[in-house]
Amino acid sequence: MTGTIDVSAAVFRGDAEGRLSVERMRLDPPSHGEVRVRVRAAGVCGSDRHVLEGEWQVPLPAIMGHEAAGVVEAVGAGVQSLGVGDHVIIAWHQACQRCGECAAGKPWACLLAKSNDSLLPDGTTRWSDAQGAAGYPYLAVGAMSEAIVVPEFAAIRIDERVPFEVASLIGCSVGTGYGAVVNNARVEASESAVVVGSGGVGLSIISALRLAGATPIVAVDVSEEKLREALAAGATHGVLGGEDLASRVADLTDGGADVAFEAIGRVQTMAQLPSLIRPGGRAVFVGLPPEGQKVEIDGLLLAYEGKTIIGSNYGGLVPARDFPRIARAYLSGALPLDGLISARVGLDEVNEAFDAMRRGERTRSVIVF
Ligand code: APR
Ligand code: ZN
Ligand code: ZN
Repeated sequence: MTGTIDVSAAVFRGDAEGRLSVERMRLDPPSHGEVRVRVRAAGVCGSDRHVLEGEWQVPLPAIMGHEAAGVVEAVGAGVQSLGVGDHVIIAWHQACQRCGECAAGKPWACLLAKSNDSLLPDGTTRWSDAQGAAGYPYLAVGAMSEAIVVPEFAAIRIDERVPFEVASLIGCSVGTGYGAVVNNARVEASESAVVVGSGGVGLSIISALRLAGATPIVAVDVSEEKLREALAAGATHGVLGGEDLASRVADLTDGGADVAFEAIGRVQTMAQLPSLIRPGGRAVFVGLPPEGQKVEIDGLLLAYEGKTIIGSNYGGLVPARDFPRIARAYLSGALPLDGLISARVGLDEVNEAFDAMRRGERTRSVIVF
């Protein structure tokens, strides 16, 4: 099991309709400090869709997916903390572990991380296609594949009692939402909160807000169905988005929320966020907008009303610390996550899963292997 192996993977080659092809790909063995993980579950996340819609450019062909959990099946030389058979969640932001930011506990701010270039930290890839051309794992993970190779530090061991489907989501949407609440906004008990966008990331924010004791928790979406799911995840109110959103939120939060989260990635809703919070409140940008788009904000809301805008990259997560914490909260029942999974699909149904997301139908499809 230590040589190059063949795996089936969902590959994007730049198709104008955003279609993926399930192909046989070659995966080289883990190098020094790397592990090969047999993927058991891979979430279908909004960030992948940005690539399929041509909003973000990545090297092609791309092995898509970045939200994964599985079992370590081979370890490279020098690997010390992981062994064959360990259950792991993959962290997609693969920081260098050596620079000042990494040393300061801010791996998400590492300038040396090569995840956005779809390369491992050493600047190479373990992938090639049937013709021998290099393949590029999206965000250095390429989760929609039977197996992947990642650095040891990007595979975080977790309690085997966490189901793989739930574990995969902790690697991106759930981790991002939890981190935005706990690490970025540092929400305290009894603070009021509003969450704009109740998809996978928004619902994860809502369940973390409930864990933190926030109240009320106002969920906003354009879909009635998503609002019903938001209430089930712990929101106290569901509000349809629209023109008079600020006044409706003000009514529910006694003049404006203490903290607001944007979990869609639309510059219009990002611009609206400061109007939903009270003077001195925090507006947290979680959703990722298309490359190059500008957010227009009235400067007086910040300079005079003392509102703060907080940028959230990967929820400010320190994966080795936060993934096991999230897993413990899930296992204790304090952080219910099962409801986030709306469909389990096979790898060959990956295009249907993205279509369902485009139609706004499913909170989260998870590919199971
Ligand atoms: N107002 C309110 N809600 C809206 C609006 C709007 N104008 N437009 C879309 N929505 C809702 C959708 O109905 C959906 O429920 O926003 C939600 C977005 O959820 P998903 O498409 O499931 O996306 P998700 O995976 O949650 O990711 C959201 O976070 O990490 C980033 O890259 C990711 O930018 C993406 C964002
Ligand atoms: Zn670093
Ligand atoms: Zn994601």
